[in-house]
Amino acid sequence: MNFVGCSLMFLFIFAIVETARCELLTLGIIGSIGGSLLGSAGYYGYEKFKCNFMECCTYDYIPSDLDKLEVMLAARLYGQQIAQETIINALRGHLGNKDSPKALVMSFHGTPGTGKNYVAQMIAKAFYKNGVQSQYYYFFNGRNDFPLQRKVDEYKEELYEAVSNALKKCERSLFVFDEVDKMPEGLLNILVPFLDYNMYHKPSKQSKIVYQNKAIFIFLSNTGSSQIVQHLKSLWEKGKKRDDTRLQDFEKLIANGAFNEKGGLHHSDTIQTSVIDHYVPFLPLEEVHVRKCLTRAFSERNVTPKEEMIEEALSHLTFGPEPHNLYSMAGCKRIEQKVASIVYRKQSDSKIND
Ligand SMILES: Nc1ncnc2c1ncn2[C@@H]1O[C@H](COP(=O)(O)OP(=O)(O)OP(=O)(O)O)[C@@H](O)[C@H]1O
Ligand SMILES: [Mg+2]
Repeated sequence: MNFVGCSLMFLFIFAIVETARCELLTLGIIGSIGGSLLGSAGYYGYEKFKCNFMECCTYDYIPSDLDKLEVMLAARLYGQQIAQETIINALRGHLGNKDSPKALVMSFHGTPGTGKNYVAQMIAKAFYKNGVQSQYYYFFNGRNDFPLQRKVDEYKEELYEAVSNALKKCERSLFVFDEVDKMPEGLLNILVPFLDYNMYHKPSKQSKIVYQNKAIFIFLSNTGSSQIVQHLKSLWEKGKKRDDTRLQDFEKLIANGAFNEKGGLHHSDTIQTSVIDHYVPFLPLEEVHVRKCLTRAFSERNVTPKEEMIEEALSHLTFGPEPHNLYSMAGCKRIEQKVASIVYRKQSDSKIND
């Protein structure tokens, strides 16, 4: 073979080797892309499959059904027109805005038994398919979960971790803080970065970004309630009807009351930095509302109450403040228990007479 022949042979072999190498490389690339596509398809498929059996952070499990909430509130909540409207409008506004600049933060205030927990639970029921059992619904009680002022720094760390982890798991989480007035002072300041105007929050350099603008935070307390009662009473004395009162009549009063009275919101950054979007007043309940609660409690026991039975249940409740005694001091609280004992006694009396 001469020199030209040798060179051609060499070029030919070189071309075959190169082509084969390219082919292998291409196959390799295709293989790895295919592999990772298959891998992610598999992962995606697994995630979807898993959601058939367990709760996921998806629309199916978090329908946030505000129509359902509106129906529930209209049918079961008595005498809280302002709260009802404020809450529905706030939630509609929040959910309607896909790029909401911040988490929704509401603070419910009012005397005992006026429906604060009741409404918070209704919101959870309307938002989550699993209602209050949802893993994305978080309930903290000031008195039970954070009882000691001296442990406030420890609680702060725990709370920060809990909220941060919850939001990493699902940005559409609902956090309810009950008995905020029984919480150690300063604890809630730790929440400010989650409540404020940031689209996201990065707890530390290494950690994953936490999106918080779809979350909802609700605080419940009795602070500001004496101001609410006094103000409602003075409006009544001036002839203004309960239904004619407006949110503006109470909002400022509550914010001042919450800030100045002892408890979790006392002189707190949460209020100073104005991260609370809505102060929601729960007005003290009048006899007419308590009667509705009583009638409902009887009918849940399949009893149509006679007037004397309602009167008996009412006689256990205290109405105040003097001199008009217009409002039930414990609202509709513990009414079920009173009704249960009246029904039980009536049933045993009728058995004895039979
Ligand atoms: N406005 C209302 N309309 C109908 N039912 C009510 C209303 N308020 C309270 N109730 C009934 O009374 C029960 C107790 O109310 P709830 O626990 O919501 O009171 P609260 O406002 O959280 O009181 P507290 O300040 O003592 O915690 C509810 O489960 C509900 O059955
Ligand atoms: Mg309560």
